[in-house]
Amino acid sequence: MTNDKMDKIISLAKRRGFVFPGSEIYGGLSNSYDYGPLGVELKNNISQLWWKRFVQDRNDMVGIDAALIMNPKVWEASGHLKEFSDPLVECKKCHNRFRADQILEGPSGVNFGEPTSRPVGYTLELKNKSPYEKCPDCGGELTNPKQFNLMLQTFLGPAEEKANEVYFRPEIAQSMFVNFKQVLDTTRRRLPFGIASQGKAFRNEITPGNFIFRTREFNLMEFEYFIEEKEWKKTFEYWQNEMREWLKDLGVNLKKVHEVEIPDGERAHYSKRTVDFEYEYPFGQKELYGLAYRTDFDLKNHEKFSGQNLKYRDPETGEEISPHVIEPTFGLDRSVLVTLLEAYHEDPSSAKASDGKRVILKLPLRLAPYKAAVFPLLANKPELVEKAKEIYDDLRKHFTVAWDDRGNIGKRYYSQDEIGTPFCITVDFDTLEKGDVTVRDRDTAKQERIQIKELREYIHGKIFG
Ligand code: GAP
Repeated sequence: MTNDKMDKIISLAKRRGFVFPGSEIYGGLSNSYDYGPLGVELKNNISQLWWKRFVQDRNDMVGIDAALIMNPKVWEASGHLKEFSDPLVECKKCHNRFRADQILEGPSGVNFGEPTSRPVGYTLELKNKSPYEKCPDCGGELTNPKQFNLMLQTFLGPAEEKANEVYFRPEIAQSMFVNFKQVLDTTRRRLPFGIASQGKAFRNEITPGNFIFRTREFNLMEFEYFIEEKEWKKTFEYWQNEMREWLKDLGVNLKKVHEVEIPDGERAHYSKRTVDFEYEYPFGQKELYGLAYRTDFDLKNHEKFSGQNLKYRDPETGEEISPHVIEPTFGLDRSVLVTLLEAYHEDPSSAKASDGKRVILKLPLRLAPYKAAVFPLLANKPELVEKAKEIYDDLRKHFTVAWDDRGNIGKRYYSQDEIGTPFCITVDFDTLEKGDVTVRDRDTAKQERIQIKELREYIHGKIFG
């Protein structure tokens, strides 16, 4: 894999409406991105599949959706105000700023020293003298690293004063901890059980980059799984395996995923064990997801700072305990990125100097933005257009469906292949006589005739099994 592939993905994403550079008409905003019409479908399909798999299909999980801005005391209790920082160095000549651990990367993109992860609260062991003496941009001398807090601050209310200072949440986990008691009281859950949530998180990253891999505003999906302390090892392994299974849903080749044990001293302040799921991106092997054993650190601290009892009372024995927590965490934007990277295929037999190789986005069928596309064979034959519209309108009640009546059929196929549409349905003159259509399969390019009345079942069966 090379960065060439990354360029192709970024270009395809922009050209076809998956991901646009943010605020582009004003020259953009450093490393911000917007999901376009196809991107939002793909992103939503991933988050909905995640919600179904980890929340709705299980009887030991419930969901919440919490505010982005929380009482600042939350971040005191969680340790973020004190611990959530990265080492910052500045060039004394050009004044560009860098994350000290990241500029250890060599010129070939080989990572010589970046820690395998930089989870919440990770603090690099700083040496007295910075080993990174040269600025990667101008060769100037660098300052010694100093810790830079990543929390994104704002003010609530009209006055910009200390009392109104708040933070956009840097992780969503804390909303599960502060709502723990209310969820327990309203759902009467028994251990073990989990609380899941999805939503935005914000980090004032020193060096965002690599497209949607690292941005300052991003989407997270995670859950806190509450257990008795003695259960932690086996629960950790259980979720590690479930995370692998989830990656298969995204079409990810597990050979490109490396589960990395994070050593003592490099884990987040709350974690007693962390395994990072790293993926071989075109720009290097880096974190995709994380799995942490957070112990009872968070609930205990929130008890201390809020003065509230956040214990779990065993309904049979009446004993009160502080549950321990296993936390699987999944970046949604990184999920979109790996899904695109894994799905991207070029047809080698299609090489043409003028328009490049034919691209097929082999997305898992249920993640595809459009499940099918409907074409009238000829756009200037009203009877074909009318019949095709009828089929299009009917299928749209059940699936996301595209319509295309421009150019020749071959070009329409290529256009749908490039955005990952699994089935193209063509209405021709035989359709009017025999009531059937041609259905062409994205991955095999095979075509078969299917009766219109069986179309819905056919597509549903192929996609949802
Ligand atoms: N509650 C634990 C937690 O937030 P984390 O490793 O700091 O852990 C979780 O972040 C996940 O969020 C990562 O595994 C990654 O997928 C994603 N992520 C972290 N920082 C990100 C950023 N700046 N841009 C996009 N995704 C990011």
